[in-house]
Amino acid sequence: MDRILAHTRLNRISWNEIAPARPQQPPEFFLQGGSTLEYYEPGQLPDVAGKRMLHLACANGNDSISWAFLGASVTGVDISDVAIQSANTLARATGADARFIAADMYEMPAGLRDFDVIYASAGVVCWLPDLDQWAQMIADRLRPGGTFLLNEHHPIWEVLGVRTDGVAVTVDYFGRNRPTTQTYDQAKRPTGSTPETSFDAFLWPVSDVVMSLVRAGLRIEEFFEAPFPDMFDGLGDASSWLPAIYVIKARRE
Ligand SMILES: C[S@@+](CC[C@H](N)C(=O)[O-])C[C@H]1O[C@@H](n2cnc3c(N)ncnc32)[C@H](O)[C@@H]1O
Repeated sequence: MDRILAHTRLNRISWNEIAPARPQQPPEFFLQGGSTLEYYEPGQLPDVAGKRMLHLACANGNDSISWAFLGASVTGVDISDVAIQSANTLARATGADARFIAADMYEMPAGLRDFDVIYASAGVVCWLPDLDQWAQMIADRLRPGGTFLLNEHHPIWEVLGVRTDGVAVTVDYFGRNRPTTQTYDQAKRPTGSTPETSFDAFLWPVSDVVMSLVRAGLRIEEFFEAPFPDMFDGLGDASSWLPAIYVIKARRE
């Protein structure tokens, strides 16, 4: 556990530094019906109204508030207390059924449990030094029959760098629990960070994510990969030939 916490400590400093630079929608955006969710996400949780949702690594709360406006009662958790403060401000300004807590996903308050839905998206798996422990935490905090939804950057997108003379393999797809040396393209670093901002990031093959969830006792109900041509800018037609995201929906039996 000490090793896990050491990574989190470093990442918390960096996420707190860059949190103010990360775009947060104004209250009017949500009050006028806006949503920051990807178009395919609400369809994965069509019956979210009235459900208790735990949002892991919720950042400044854009997506959490979007789910709340679809009727979920959302609790968001993030290590950045700066992001959590602005998420709570946004929740108050919109009147959304959402509250936000600064905590490490691996060390959340014991009372955060029995959720109908646990959700995580767009840059969460890369902060995990231990995938099995994370998957077990999800299983433990879902109620029986509850659903986990992950909408994540595809590790192939993290590995490949588009260059003027072709595509480069920039980092080990099988890096697993070894932190990367930040060889990513700058365009893939978190918004607001500079080349000097230091993160401990991890690359987990998609198959590892699937198998950790299975080992934790979750039943996979949906699993797909999809292109996002904008994420492979510069590849022309081939930008839609590569997976840029993957989605997993799993249920606690
Ligand atoms: C790229 S953002 C997640 C994306 C989020 N869905 C959004 O749209 O902004 C990554 C977030 O993960 C958080 N994070 C990183 N490690 C964490 C941990 N161990 N526990 C909780 N949050 C963590 C960071 O503070 C940051 O806000």
